[in-house]
Amino acid sequence: MKHFLNTQDWSRTELDAVLADAARFKREKIGDALKGKSIALVFFNPSMRTRTSFELGAFQLGGHAVVLAPGKDAWPIEFDLGTVMDGDTEEHIAEVAQVLSRYVDLIGVRAFPKFVDWASDREDKVLKGFAKYATVPVINMETITHPCQELAHALALQEHFGTTDLRGKKYVLTWTYHPKALNTAVANSALTIATRMGMDVTLLCPTADYLLDERYMGWAAQNVAENGGSLQVSHDIDSAYAGADVVYAKSWGALPFFGNWEPEKPIRDQYKHFIVDERKMALTNNGVFSHCLPLRRNIKATDAVMDAPYCIAVNEAENRLHVQKAVMAALANQ
Ligand code: CP
Repeated sequence: MKHFLNTQDWSRTELDAVLADAARFKREKIGDALKGKSIALVFFNPSMRTRTSFELGAFQLGGHAVVLAPGKDAWPIEFDLGTVMDGDTEEHIAEVAQVLSRYVDLIGVRAFPKFVDWASDREDKVLKGFAKYATVPVINMETITHPCQELAHALALQEHFGTTDLRGKKYVLTWTYHPKALNTAVANSALTIATRMGMDVTLLCPTADYLLDERYMGWAAQNVAENGGSLQVSHDIDSAYAGADVVYAKSWGALPFFGNWEPEKPIRDQYKHFIVDERKMALTNNGVFSHCLPLRRNIKATDAVMDAPYCIAVNEAENRLHVQKAVMAALANQ
């Protein structure tokens, strides 16, 4: 039984098939690939796009989605084994995942890091707990990576460039300022899928403290070795943007400060000029701009960039619906 926990677990052939199915679902909105099937969408964190697109995607393919928010409208869940559960948690993931598997055909999980201890958060304990005990496929709806966003992003780029072959494109993943230290999931994912697609990738971030976890830097390096393309790190804004075909922006907290964010804040505040603006985009090769959304305008990117014809963030958001239909259909009918 296959899960969809990370794109790196899937072969390029499998990813290409999902992207092709997603393009088909975009043309043919209604289908029966999930007829009589159901998915539990388990949200430990807020969502607009993910929740809406999964619920509608299941409905449009003849299936049904149940949304659960443990700790809010469902019992709080314990994930550690051997815990004497005399605290806030009412049931263990072992039972939750098995019971849900008796009801539904798929389980989606959103569980962000707790931002206290990266060594613990990087284990992705919640997602792995569901995958361990579920007897149905599990889909990552964003934990420490965001693989559904990766597919939506890849599809948006394929549509923009009019080809499924993105090799040779210069891709810049730029860190942008945000008043809070955010999850690295989308940045990890962008680096993963851009290198998987064989693009020439630059990770632009203020200092070495903002490099991504070695696991994802390692996946990117592995992808370059296997698929071609290239990977470089830059701290220089203008040279990174120069000639770029794609600019993808995300803000994230510096991993060395994980769990001790107070001293990171004044450092982060020095880099507000990483905002994506028209001057920087003018350095590109008529490049496109995208972001996973939600986005704070005039903090991460200017109004002018968000409203420009080269901004494909809304197309990417729409594609969440189509790629998730393809993932659900593939997993429910394996
Ligand atoms: N990009 C994304 O996952 O959006 P939501 O957090 O609104 O689901």
